[in-house]
Amino acid sequence: MKRALITGITGQDGAYLSQLLLSKGYEVFGLVRRSSAAEVMDEKLRWLGIAAEVRLVDGNLTDLSSLLRTMRDVKPDEVYNLAAQSFVKSSWNQPLLTGAVTGIGAANVLEAVRLEAPSARFYQASSSEMFGLIQEPVQTERTPFYPRSPYAAAKLYAHWMTVNYRESFGLHATSGILFNHESPLRGIEFVTRKITDGVARIKLGQQRTLALGNLDARRDWGHARDYVKAMWAMLQHDTPDDYVIATGRTVSVRDFCDLAFAHVGLKADDHVVVDERYLRPAEVPLLLGDSGKARQRLGWAPDTSLEQLVVEMVEADIDRLKFQGACR
Ligand code: NAP
Ligand code: GDD
Repeated sequence: MKRALITGITGQDGAYLSQLLLSKGYEVFGLVRRSSAAEVMDEKLRWLGIAAEVRLVDGNLTDLSSLLRTMRDVKPDEVYNLAAQSFVKSSWNQPLLTGAVTGIGAANVLEAVRLEAPSARFYQASSSEMFGLIQEPVQTERTPFYPRSPYAAAKLYAHWMTVNYRESFGLHATSGILFNHESPLRGIEFVTRKITDGVARIKLGQQRTLALGNLDARRDWGHARDYVKAMWAMLQHDTPDDYVIATGRTVSVRDFCDLAFAHVGLKADDHVVVDERYLRPAEVPLLLGDSGKARQRLGWAPDTSLEQLVVEMVEADIDRLKFQGACR
């Protein structure tokens, strides 16, 4: 039985990746940071019905000693570093924390792997946000980076550290450059979930308007359930490498609103208002990925269309609000 260690197991991707690895017969361990709200810490794992099947280990990305101990105790075959301060907007308010967790934290995990589990295969959750102010209309593994936020700068450091540990120490270290991926388990502060939650509340008569920021931003949005399959596939390849994971289709925030409101028979224009509090000091206006390399080498392709994703998210939010489910 293979053993996988996931940092960030309580997040969106950690939950879906755990589900995938359990279905493949893995023993799944997850690093979790101590929280005063321990009762809701594993709510995404519970939503998927797998909380009892994963083993949680107390630790923090900023505490190298906890990572060294965890590697020694778990003896993982595969390490997925998904933990991060992942909300771009917060990274301007907490730039140093973001650097410490999202950047140095990844280096801490790499060090722990190098020192305690050097034969483990390592996955780094890199991001299309690193392309930032895009230098090519369609982004591939060869597109130059231009980070536009403290988050993106921290991810870029973690990405290059992953490449360097691969080249310097021969670690099986892979960087997945994933474009935006969403699901009913997406954090409520990210725009897609904010929209589907807002649509559900408006449909149920709980609110009238939905306040958003830049409606013209365009993203290449896929489903998290599809994207964690790519993470796993990357670590099954004998040669570590870097891969772009994307759908190859980009739409605007406005388009996403139109789809979500239309699903419940409403018009976005009647409810969406722009509130400058949600604008950013610097924007990433457009992302569009070409995942040709992953499709060719890993046989990976997304299964879920944008339209299916929107419907699944809106329906999940309606159900949650109707039944007062715990997972917000
Ligand atoms: P998420 O839902 O925000 O989850 C982040 C996880 O990191 C949570 O489990 C969080 O724990 C954990 N974490 C934060 N700080 C930590 C620390 N100091 N020590 C240990 N754990 C810590 O993010 P996601 O959407 O699942 O994304 C997973 C990873 O992929 C992230 O690194 C993200 O930056 C990256 N990524 C995401 C996307 C996307 O579109 N979703 C695209 C590209 C890259 P708590 O539950 O305690 O907060
Ligand atoms: N969050 C948010 N809230 N975003 C808004 C809003 C709003 O009210 N209104 C417009 N937007 C725009 C943002 O300005 C941005 O251009 C776009 O919607 C997407 O914002 P987010 O959903 O917050 O995601 P992100 O693209 O900044 O970052 C996500 O994707 C990255 C991959 O490209 C995160 O998951 C990152 O962790 C990830 O690396």
